Amino acid sequence: MYQAVKGTQDILPADRAYWRYVTEQMHAVSALFGLQQIDTPIFEETSLFVRGVGEGTDIVDKEMYSFQDKGGDDLTLRPEFTAGVMRAFIEHGMHVLPRPVKLYSIGPIFRHEAPQAGRYRQFHQFNVEMLGEMDPAVDLDVMSVAWMLLTRLGYRGLNFQLNSTGCRKCRPGYRAALVDYFKAYEDRLGDVDRRRLAINPLRLLDSKEPAVQPLLDAAPHSADHLCDECATHLAGLRGYLAALGMPYTINFRLVRGLDYYTKTVFEVWAEGIGSQSAVCGGGRYDGLVEELGGPPTPGIGFAMGIERVIASLKQQGITPPALAEPRVQVSPLGEAARLPAIRLVNDLRAAEIGALLAFGGRSLKSQLKSADKAGVAYTVILGDTELANGVAVVRDMASSQQETVAADGIVDWLRARVIRNT
Ligand code: HAM
Repeated sequence: MYQAVKGTQDILPADRAYWRYVTEQMHAVSALFGLQQIDTPIFEETSLFVRGVGEGTDIVDKEMYSFQDKGGDDLTLRPEFTAGVMRAFIEHGMHVLPRPVKLYSIGPIFRHEAPQAGRYRQFHQFNVEMLGEMDPAVDLDVMSVAWMLLTRLGYRGLNFQLNSTGCRKCRPGYRAALVDYFKAYEDRLGDVDRRRLAINPLRLLDSKEPAVQPLLDAAPHSADHLCDECATHLAGLRGYLAALGMPYTINFRLVRGLDYYTKTVFEVWAEGIGSQSAVCGGGRYDGLVEELGGPPTPGIGFAMGIERVIASLKQQGITPPALAEPRVQVSPLGEAARLPAIRLVNDLRAAEIGALLAFGGRSLKSQLKSADKAGVAYTVILGDTELANGVAVVRDMASSQQETVAADGIVDWLRARVIRNT
């Protein structure tokens, strides 16, 4: 028996109401912020992600689904949206558009991670990018998208984890301070952390090793090593967040797993959805467009994991509005009634009334049973006598009351009584 590949999952009809609700809110909130939708291909040249996300990151070193296609091109299933969106921004000369250029995307992402609750190999992101402005008010705008979305979905007690990782000017100083600090404890570090110390010491702050935890509390904070520009930027953003009453916690250990970040980084965590608690994460990447061959263009964005959002909605007992379902079943009794029944179902749908045809020539009793299961409000019964008299019998499924209605008036009769399906 075939099974879905490890780390992937089917999104079954039973979960559709959640997906519809969450993605509709994503489109609606994006419209309020002037974000425009962009869809980029699911695969790109491998080197785009290597340069964009960065060699030495877990994503590039361990998690990419990379392959050579039949023409010998090196391609990768996107492990995130940002690099592909930047490629499109450069390729289509979007830097000439009014700034900030505001873009959003929704779609599948692929990472070869160890699967567990909330961590999959194929998952979906809602991704937001705003390009072309250094102003911390743009950072606020980006964070507000996440805030408004989660609030509208019903989250309570929201809080941002916030940090600044500095810029090209001040990060080297911070990096050196971290190396100095951890060098003294190198014998306590495991292999992975020792490699991080050599290649990417900021990632040590993210270490899950128990032996390292006590060292982290006293490790240098990036906020103490920021240049004037980065410090002013962070202070500006904090002022805006305070003015809007958006709570945040300064978390000096928040470094994020992608190399392109500069200045602001942030996440939102949700409790109770397993060890993977970040529902969204993002930050500034002021050097990325240039790194990928475009004109110098600052930018900031975030991505939200849709599976994690849905898991935490369930965890919080938030239920989405039900999806529209057919409200009418048409039950033909006997061969002669089949065609009129097929026509009636067609007419009802054309009038925006969801309708099911009872197939298979079963008994009325069994047809009513399936109408009950389908949850329709009315069943239209068409038998030989009704056909001969130009009428139909309509049964109210809740009360079991039946009424005889003229066949040519039945669409209007039902339209007056059932909720339209749109
Ligand atoms: P990220 O933190 O790698 O950032 O992913 C963003 C979100 O995607 C996470 O907070 C989480 O909700 C979800 N996510 C990540 N990995 C998995 C997984 N294996 N299974 C389920 N959900 C997952 C980025 O991808 C950046 N490109 C965000 C960004 C956009 N920064 C700037 N612009």
